[in-house]
Amino acid sequence: MTSGLTVDLGSRSYPIHFVGNAGVAVLALVQELTAQSRPVALLTDQGVLAAQRDLIERTLAGVPRLVVHAGETSKSLETYGRVLDFLASQKIPRKGVLLVLGGGVVGDLGGFAAASFLRGIEYVQIPTTLLAMVDSSVGGKTGLNLGAGKNLVGAFHHPQAVYVATDFLTTLPAREFAAGAAEVIKYGLLGDASLLAQLEKTPVTPRSAELPQVIRRCCEMKAAVVRADERETAAEGGRALLNLGHTFGHAIEQVTGYGHYLHGEAVGVGLAAAARLSQALGYLSAADVGRVDRVVAAHALPTRLREGLPLSALMAAMQQDKKVRAGQLRFVVLKRLGEAATQGNIDASLVETVWRELGAA
Ligand code: GLY
Repeated sequence: MTSGLTVDLGSRSYPIHFVGNAGVAVLALVQELTAQSRPVALLTDQGVLAAQRDLIERTLAGVPRLVVHAGETSKSLETYGRVLDFLASQKIPRKGVLLVLGGGVVGDLGGFAAASFLRGIEYVQIPTTLLAMVDSSVGGKTGLNLGAGKNLVGAFHHPQAVYVATDFLTTLPAREFAAGAAEVIKYGLLGDASLLAQLEKTPVTPRSAELPQVIRRCCEMKAAVVRADERETAAEGGRALLNLGHTFGHAIEQVTGYGHYLHGEAVGVGLAAAARLSQALGYLSAADVGRVDRVVAAHALPTRLREGLPLSALMAAMQQDKKVRAGQLRFVVLKRLGEAATQGNIDASLVETVWRELGAA
């Protein structure tokens, strides 16, 4: 992987660089910013620090850093306050740049801090997880969770650049890699039947030869969706399609407490749920649902709830979802494998049946 992609948004366009070696690319970036007299700060988490100590403590030795706890609980108002205090204590000016090195949690947290500190500074996404490479680092969604729901605070604030270095994935814990695979499968299901077929034939692994091309394909799809519907305002379809499986997944995360399921694990169950809902609506066959279950399971992801979560709590959590419009449940459904659509006014009893099939009590 050498050549890059552009997220084409007029004056807010930015590149996704596919680089072979993270250290070389990040060092060159810091040197370039320093030569422009632009102060740089780094946000990362303890898991990334442990896995990338050489990069952080040697290559980026001169860059002030804040290391937060790894995991979804860091997408909190409290940790956000720590990031702002850190940027203030380092006297980062408006022309400063925050390097955000980590997965989706650190990316969302750092992006929101960059969106709001001094009313907005620039930031660069350096994703270290598969999930962040194919989804959360691209598109400018930033945010935090509240007790009342996931991502209820946030801003659209695009990075200046994204650096995708697949060498990070060789040290990623297997569970984290699997969680990212849920988003990869999502792209196949919602818009690329040949990608889906490839994943069914050969599940991706951290060292698979196909992985760079698969990541690039996902980034291409994400860039195209974001270009067409940057702020998710399309009445139908558009960026909301990227939430395939997520209304179910977010409910699982909320009911179990953030962090019990990794986001991608909840999305894995959510994809199985979305397939069943699509079957109940007459779009998919039982064989299609079986294919969805098998490709999710082949990537070491759950297709059912691990424990019997209360149906009433799951349904209540769905009402908090940002996709709920005028109290109506609204979902991304599969018209067929490889084509998704948004659909409102879905009967709650269909959704309850799906939850029960997946083990809700
Ligand atoms: N992860 C969904 C989006 O970026 O819109």
